[in-house]
Amino acid sequence: MKLLFVGDVVGSLGREMVAQYVPKLKKKYKPQITVINGENAAHGKGITEKIYKELLQAGADVVTLGNHAFDNKAIFDFIEDATKMVRPLNYPAGVPGKGIVYVKCNDKEVAVINLQGRVFMNTLDDPFAKITEAVDEARKRTPIIFIDFHAEVTSEKQALSWYLDGKVSAVVGTHTHVPTNDARVLPQGTAFLCDVGMTGPYNGILGMDRDIIITKFLNQLPARFEVAEDDEGQLSACLIDIDDKTGKAKSIQPIRITPDAPFFE
Ligand SMILES: [Fe+2]
Ligand SMILES: [Fe+2]
Repeated sequence: MKLLFVGDVVGSLGREMVAQYVPKLKKKYKPQITVINGENAAHGKGITEKIYKELLQAGADVVTLGNHAFDNKAIFDFIEDATKMVRPLNYPAGVPGKGIVYVKCNDKEVAVINLQGRVFMNTLDDPFAKITEAVDEARKRTPIIFIDFHAEVTSEKQALSWYLDGKVSAVVGTHTHVPTNDARVLPQGTAFLCDVGMTGPYNGILGMDRDIIITKFLNQLPARFEVAEDDEGQLSACLIDIDDKTGKAKSIQPIRITPDAPFFE
């Protein structure tokens, strides 16, 4: 079974990249399941119901989120009904939404989990403790388990992947918006990539207007970040090949579409 995962979709340009290229990627690589991180899909902050549906329409089976999940208040209107959307699993009890969703895929089930790190981020519940429980529970249903680990620091992402090696199919990082060059399958069969990178403006800084960010570094004054407009687009993703029976990953391949590295059919 092949799983396509697309990293943080930022703003309208990110959504345009998804609409334009996800169908082409699906045609080329034929994944059985597609997961898209939409935490920045609404003007860089959060997601609306319309955008959630747009991502499903473009080919997502599940939409994952992250620390910006609740930035757009519109999410509270639909999160409980969004059966194909996951927010970080380790939010405190009582927060709306869920952190794990099961997707039917041929005669198999795939568990898709969103988890958030807590080094240099909001201190949610312990991701290691939470994921241990969740994986034990999920493995009663299926060995095919995909985790979008939304975290800032590389060590936390590496630690979680090694901790779960052999118990899940993949731990793939999001949040930094910068792709890393370390895709591999760990010895016990867990695919790992520290960060997939983002999908959206190519010439901004992490997708934001770069003049605003540079000015902030120069003068240290508070500034309102805006998504970079009138830019060229990029798409960052990865393709994971998973053994249907064991849930172990066979390979992981990063995918980037940029003006410098265009897509070939
Ligand atoms: Fe993000
Ligand atoms: Fe994030």
